[in-house]
Amino acid sequence: MTEPSRPPAPPAHPEPIVEVQRISISFPGIKALDEVSFRMFAGEVHSLMGENGAGKSTLIKALTGVYQADSGTILFAGTPVSFHGTAQAQDAGISTVYQEVNLLPNLTVAENIMLGREPRRWGAIDKRAMRARSREVLARLGLDIDPDSMLGTHSLAIQQLVSIARAIHIDAKVLILDEPTSSLDNDEVAELFRIIRSLKESGVAILFVSHFLDQVYEIADRLTVLRNGTLIGEYLTPDLLRIELVQKMIGKEVGTLEELEQRVRENEGADAGGTPFLRTRELGRKGSVAPVDLTIAEGEVVGFAGLLGSGRTEVARLLGGIDRSDAGRLELRGDPVRLRTPRQALAHRIAFSSENRRTEGIVDELSVRDNIILALQADRGWFRPIPRKRAEELAQSYIEALHIRPANPDAIVRNLSGGNQQKVLLARWLAVAPRLLILDEPTRGIDIGAKAEIQKLVISLAENGMSVVFISGELEEVLRLSHRIVVMRDRRMIADLDNDALTIDSLLALIADGDAEEDLEETA
Ligand SMILES: Nc1ncnc2c1ncn2[C@@H]1O[C@H](COP(=O)(O)OP(=O)(O)OP(=O)(O)O)[C@@H](O)[C@H]1O
Ligand SMILES: [Mg+2]
Repeated sequence: MTEPSRPPAPPAHPEPIVEVQRISISFPGIKALDEVSFRMFAGEVHSLMGENGAGKSTLIKALTGVYQADSGTILFAGTPVSFHGTAQAQDAGISTVYQEVNLLPNLTVAENIMLGREPRRWGAIDKRAMRARSREVLARLGLDIDPDSMLGTHSLAIQQLVSIARAIHIDAKVLILDEPTSSLDNDEVAELFRIIRSLKESGVAILFVSHFLDQVYEIADRLTVLRNGTLIGEYLTPDLLRIELVQKMIGKEVGTLEELEQRVRENEGADAGGTPFLRTRELGRKGSVAPVDLTIAEGEVVGFAGLLGSGRTEVARLLGGIDRSDAGRLELRGDPVRLRTPRQALAHRIAFSSENRRTEGIVDELSVRDNIILALQADRGWFRPIPRKRAEELAQSYIEALHIRPANPDAIVRNLSGGNQQKVLLARWLAVAPRLLILDEPTRGIDIGAKAEIQKLVISLAENGMSVVFISGELEEVLRLSHRIVVMRDRRMIADLDNDALTIDSLLALIADGDAEEDLEETA
């Protein structure tokens, strides 16, 4: 085990507001935290860093009373505390926004912000006060949405910001954000950071978990690194180089991403002459996405780039049979087909992995094995159960290929860390051996090591003839993996370009505004 390095000097406020001392938590078969210490200071942003499954969320849950520690002490403002449940932690001034949005889609925005703390008048909920206060909090966040609208009608990003609104409504002394940015676009992240800075200035201590190193280096004053449930060390951000941080997180030298890029360059993918695997002609859906003409060759990786809400997911949903098109047509290997349901798409070997793993993906209560074989089973029909032995083999092979942790097919998926849940979902779609795999944000919430694994996998699948639609808000990743890039803006396809002609900057310009499009056409 690595000896934790000596913590650097505390900032201006010498007394930590939160101090976790040598805390341990075990789950059956796994020590999630092993004598981990951690501290937070008022007016400081502290990032908890570590790979998927390192113990970040577990530490947060110990701090907020979701889990009881097996041993160790938690001090809050110098006093030992032991919260039972988040409500107690919240009353003490510790607010948390969890990794997965866990609000109620069928209640209004205002009701979600105030839930459990509704203003009352003569015993009844005071709806007017509730609306007014919600407006105030939303305005503070610069969020222009109707407090009376149903939460479920908003995008995932907005829902995430509403849960932050809920947290700051309580006037927290400590604000914990567990991967709050994984579903936000660049503008929304900038907005969130503005809010974090202003909370920080007013003396709030903020715990920020993210797998995006750029964001961490932009916002965090202090870093604590965990690996496999143990403390590696606490550092002031400017003192730790990125490469050092990554090495501390994964405990070994980093494999090079350049190797990956080389492989994509060598694999030309598309054999330009033949019939493409998929072709759309003016395929569209009213109110959702304007007609698109698109081809995807066998073994080709087509990246979709665009802002959240630009239509990239909408096109993917048409291709995956999730939404029905109401204009144009779709051909597979030259034959017209209609995809009315995901099941029909699957029958044509088209698999769609949703960006929304909570509501359209993972089944919490099922084991890793049952989650992995779910799509395959649905495809076979429920009356022909997959033989137990076959299911076992499948699960084992994907657990190995994707490094799913814990490596136990019987583990209940709810208990897996967020990134590992994402890997299980990916395994489910790989198990149906698709000809076209549509991946909507497959690496969101996934640590840097696992991300490289998934990217490698996509490349080798394409090398073996599978076509891939790859959607991601991270342009580096889209550029690294794709042969061609389709750019979406305002729900229409505005460009379909060879990757060779593109750089991050030119792609960004295309996504952002129309003029750059012409600039690029000139240079391409
Ligand atoms: N309720 C639980 N029951 C069993 N095991 C659990 C439970 N909660 C967490 N674990 C295990 O504890 C370990 C730490 O998980 P944790 O969720 O804290 O990771 P994390 O650092 O937040 O990862 P990620 O970046 O993927 O979110 C993992 O191996 C996970 O499977
Ligand atoms: Mg987590």
